Amino acid sequence: MLVVKALHISFVVAWFAGLFYLPRIFVNLAMVPAESAAERERLLLMAGKLYRFMTPLGILAVGLGLWLWLGFGFAGGWLHAKTTLVVLLIVYHLYCGQLLRTFVAGASTKNHVWFRWFNELPVLVLFAVVFLAVLKPF
Ligand code: HEM
Repeated sequence: MLVVKALHISFVVAWFAGLFYLPRIFVNLAMVPAESAAERERLLLMAGKLYRFMTPLGILAVGLGLWLWLGFGFAGGWLHAKTTLVVLLIVYHLYCGQLLRTFVAGASTKNHVWFRWFNELPVLVLFAVVFLAVLKPF
């Protein structure tokens, strides 16, 4: 069980590196001047590679969490609250994919301020999930 939990936490950390950095690339993409096509292409390449890299990391993080839950008999309100927050993270991840496709199509209408606030959401969820997982308050 401890090996599964160690892998779970490791892939959670790796997934969050992407959840934190991809929206930061979106902030920069939203600020690229129209005449800087080379910079826009470089940022789009980075964002595409990062999204393709972070998706399997998210699948492994959640899969190992479900293995812990269903394989080792964990229970409690904390796990339901935690899983609900993780569903929010999965929606956030998939929405990042949609935002990336909008940038690739040159159809993004949101400004850098919107993306800066969007970038903060995973931070709040991370704190809530980690406190639920470690303290198990209910
Ligand atoms: C559906 C997704 C997930 C499920 C079902 C799940 C389930 C679990 C379970 C059953 C444990 C073992 C608890 C223990 O040993 O006391 C655990 C540990 C942990 N999980 Fe998750 N998890 C999921 C996603 C996540 C995510 C997204 C994060 C981070 C944001 C996370 C952070 C942690 C941490 C930090 C621990 C270690 C807690 C401790 O050792 O006290 N988990 N998880």
